[in-house]
Amino acid sequence: MSAAPASARPADPCCFVIFGASGDLTHRLLIPALCNLGAAGLLPDALAVIGIGRKELSSDAFRAGLAESLRQFAKRRIDDAVAGRLLACVTYLQGEVEDPATYERLRQAIERVEAAHGTRGNRLFYLATPPTVFAPIVCRLAAAGLSHEQNGAWRRVVIEKPFGTDLASARVLNQKLLGVLSEHQIYRIDHYLGKETVQNILVLRFANGLFEPIWHRDHIDHVQITVAESLPVGRRGRFYDATGALRDMVPNHLFQLLSLVAMEPPSRFDAGAVQAAKAELLDATQVQSTADALRNCVRAQYQAGYSANHRIEDYRKTADVRPDSSTETYVALKLMIDNWRWAGVPFYLRTGKALRAQLTEVGIKFKQAPFAMFRDTPVDRLAQNFLVLGIQPDECISLQFNAKIPGPTVAIKGVGMTFKYEDYFDAAPSTGYETLIYDCMIGDAILFQRADGIEAGWRVVQPFIKAWHGSDGQTLATYQAGSEGPEAADRLLARDGRRWRPIA
Ligand code: BG6
Repeated sequence: MSAAPASARPADPCCFVIFGASGDLTHRLLIPALCNLGAAGLLPDALAVIGIGRKELSSDAFRAGLAESLRQFAKRRIDDAVAGRLLACVTYLQGEVEDPATYERLRQAIERVEAAHGTRGNRLFYLATPPTVFAPIVCRLAAAGLSHEQNGAWRRVVIEKPFGTDLASARVLNQKLLGVLSEHQIYRIDHYLGKETVQNILVLRFANGLFEPIWHRDHIDHVQITVAESLPVGRRGRFYDATGALRDMVPNHLFQLLSLVAMEPPSRFDAGAVQAAKAELLDATQVQSTADALRNCVRAQYQAGYSANHRIEDYRKTADVRPDSSTETYVALKLMIDNWRWAGVPFYLRTGKALRAQLTEVGIKFKQAPFAMFRDTPVDRLAQNFLVLGIQPDECISLQFNAKIPGPTVAIKGVGMTFKYEDYFDAAPSTGYETLIYDCMIGDAILFQRADGIEAGWRVVQPFIKAWHGSDGQTLATYQAGSEGPEAADRLLARDGRRWRPIA
């Protein structure tokens, strides 16, 4: 997401090495995204792609598989010439990531393609692998001398969440990565930052003089962040049951939204300033005591029900989920931010599976106008002033305010003004990875996370994990699939005289 003019330049020449090349991420997202970048003229002429996977495959068979994936998963029509050009630079290397011999063969493959394609020694290592092998791969790359930057050539490593499963493991991962790489070489992806509507939060706040003067505790009553999914856990039972809604969504996607909405204005639009402002915000978020953490959160699991007319079974009946599982599929939290801007303003976060609808939004509730003026009129209440940033499925920004109903008496109704992206911009459908991959290739880290930001996020989440540990089941509520979540989540806000916006 560079601050460059709209006519962006093609990325630097580079060798793009994908670990986990036979997996889903490569086929569904990375290669289609590269193809879309090619169609937009943003790939360099000097590009080589090396896929590394465990499967025995010839480069021809690998390319044929990718061509099929492009037909199946590209979000827009694929231009055969563009796809042909991209696939022509792809080769495949079979290898186990734990085997040092793999890295020797990788070195030879890289040297071959660097000579053939003129990629100038620039290398992007994309780890489309399970997180357990992030550190081993990065250490072996370093040991083989493949990731060391020299002679003006860059070497970057891309990993995608989860970055650890708690504070301790996140620290260990950071230490291992930073033991062999410099921070500027590590690109930690959160795919939420690939969403245009999420990137636009920065622009809305800082490119308009309108909002920033009222963006603080004097005017904002509270903020609600919702990431609701209508789909159940599905085929990811094994991963999900060991992870749960909190770890899966909060320290990453929800905290990205939180930090963009609440951070201080960065002094410059560059990676260092933006990453520092985000990390500072998370650092200022209160680390709660066990007692407060228990009081300020709700965790729940879905039971059988219907969502969008589809029957959803009990979470505990999902394949690869323990029949007595106490893993949460829903979590709601109340967080406070200890800084001058936000003192006393609660941030309510919630996320869950198998809910009534898919809805990702940030609702910013402004303080109520004094009602006194309307005391002697028929008006019995005023609608709430919300600024709603719709992330998905509706990509919009809407402002809700009160207006007078035409007529001789003073009657007031809540109305809304809505900006919809689709009404103004004609964005081609995308995988959401185009901007992120392009940014890695041009060395723009604004949309990526730094080690300190990751650890600050886990520090906030850690008390909730600790509070639940050992109280297995006791703190777990239930909700019906297809509902808006557990009643306890409504009580969390009702206690403060507030209520959630509907999930619809
Ligand atoms: C992933 C989580 O990171 O994000 C999934 O592991 C979740 O459980 C997904 O479904 C949500 O992403 P999106 O883009 O569909 O909102």
